[in-house]
Amino acid sequence: MKKLGLFMLAVLMIGLSSCGGDNANKAKDAANNAVEATKDAAEDAAEATKEAAKEAVDATKEVAKDAAEAAKDAVADVDGKALFLNNGCVACHQVDKKTVGPSIKEIAAAYDGKKEDLIKFLKGEGKAIVDPAQFAVMQPNLATTKKMNDAERAGLADYMLSNK
Ligand code: HEC
Repeated sequence: MKKLGLFMLAVLMIGLSSCGGDNANKAKDAANNAVEATKDAAEDAAEATKEAAKEAVDATKEVAKDAAEAAKDAVADVDGKALFLNNGCVACHQVDKKTVGPSIKEIAAAYDGKKEDLIKFLKGEGKAIVDPAQFAVMQPNLATTKKMNDAERAGLADYMLSNK
């Protein structure tokens, strides 16, 4: 509003300037000032718009990331069994029969009441307690379970522990 006022003043001065020399110079100065002020205001507005647009993009990205994360967690929560089947675990682990690896029931018995330890093992941070002598055969599979998120590892643990 102030800038607009200045501008109007400038226009007025230009009008008056037709009357005489000194006044004409003053009017020219005022007009120049008004132009400068208008330019500044436009620059400020452009800067603010850019800033706001960037914030909006950042916020959108954040929301999208959260949604993707939540979707991943939700799927993992309900389907530990599918994870066990789809990640090749069944090739060596049958429910109640020892094959290449111990049965799921044997694993569940060893980790009964120790879900956190089982999750740690899947994270590559725990020690083998079921058949430590054969750990070298199991170890490469930890590359798969380490890449999973916490909810997926918890889903796997829940599934194994549900086989009693
Ligand atoms: C190539 C065969 C093989 C595959 C595939 C395999 N395992 Fe194993 N697993 C073993 C063997 C052998 C053991 C016994 C050694 C041991 O106890 O670490 C074992 C042990 C385990 C144990 C017990 C760990 C402990 O404390 O002793 C868990 C839990 C386990 N496997 C989970 C899995 C999961 C989950 C998958 C799929 C991502 C998987 N395994 C895939 C062979 C395999």
